[in-house]
Amino acid sequence: MEFRHLGRSGLMVSEISYGNWITHGSQVEEDAAKACVQAALEEGITTFDTADVYAGTRAEEVLGRALKGQRRESLEIFTKVYWPTGSGPNDRGLSRKHIFESIHGSLRRLQTDYIDLYQAHRFDHETPLEETLKAFDDLVRQGKVLYIGVSEWRAEEIARALKIADEMGLDRIVSNQPQYNMIWRVIESEVVPLCEKEGVGQIVWSPIAQGVLTGKYAPGAAPPSGSRATDEKSGAAFIQRLLDDEVLTRVQRLKPLADEAGLSMAQLAVAWVLQNPNVSSAIIGASRPEQVRDNVKAAGVKLEADLLQRVDEILAPVVERDPAKTVSPSRRP
Ligand SMILES: NC(=O)c1ccc[n+]([C@@H]2O[C@H](COP(=O)([O-])OP(=O)(O)OC[C@H]3O[C@@H](n4cnc5c(N)ncnc54)[C@H](OP(=O)(O)O)[C@@H]3O)[C@@H](O)[C@H]2O)c1
Repeated sequence: MEFRHLGRSGLMVSEISYGNWITHGSQVEEDAAKACVQAALEEGITTFDTADVYAGTRAEEVLGRALKGQRRESLEIFTKVYWPTGSGPNDRGLSRKHIFESIHGSLRRLQTDYIDLYQAHRFDHETPLEETLKAFDDLVRQGKVLYIGVSEWRAEEIARALKIADEMGLDRIVSNQPQYNMIWRVIESEVVPLCEKEGVGQIVWSPIAQGVLTGKYAPGAAPPSGSRATDEKSGAAFIQRLLDDEVLTRVQRLKPLADEAGLSMAQLAVAWVLQNPNVSSAIIGASRPEQVRDNVKAAGVKLEADLLQRVDEILAPVVERDPAKTVSPSRRP
């Protein structure tokens, strides 16, 4: 495994991290979840990402049990706050009240005294940014949180937060967690240039587009059984928009490129996001341990310029680049 700084901070993270959205507490049984975490640890992954909202808070519990007994100093545990964790009006968003209540729930479920990186899961248009940043800063001072990050924020939202933090002398955000992969490149034109300048690292999600970039979804064919597209609990709904025939057809054309580079399709996709120096870590998901063992081999891989250019040519018509596609709800969900 290779390690990178989280943005300009002193924290090192494994360049491939493991996340448990959709899988833990929902798609897969606890034994499979634990086997994936064990495989991740054996392969050198030290960075684990979850969120209070995943599987209605059960994902944090599963991860807490799966990591129990590990040396805490050897792990970087990331979680998030924003999406609803209950039915009340204060069980969501980035108010001081919900942030404080959510962190206590996350610490309990993850069975840890502190969170390495606490992330605002979306931008909250109903809370003053000063209130949110001050609450995060208080958690840092209390030692409950070591670093602060955001997820799916636009460049102008990140810029505002950095300005307020500087003016008020508050802890600065060190990371953003956006969707980023060969077909979803909306961060490249605005978010990445700003973040490079400001020392904010990207921890990117769905590096293999939820499985689509492995080529296992063939155009016009039924999805393979046991895959995310067949997970009626939640996975199928989330992957649906990616299962477009033109996308799937073009993805099949990447296979010879992966073969040529001596990589599996999943490894090619993970290695592709890691070529961007502003990326601190690629968060992979997995429903079984073999996937973790396959995908981690992307660590340290250098892709040639010619191969990157051919990827661009094949995928050009289906790549999304519009920065306006990064949208947080105008009202809290
Ligand atoms: N901040 C946010 O808003 C946000 C949003 C989404 C995700 N995330 C984070 O990012 C993490 C990763 O997201 P993701 O799960 O969508 O990532 P991903 O790595 O793009 O997709 C993972 C899924 O692809 C399939 N897969 C993985 N490796 C494979 C292989 N070698 N061969 C065939 N299929 C393979 C598996 O699903 P099946 O086996 O079921 O097909 C696996 O669960 C999440 O756990 C979460 O931590 C954050």
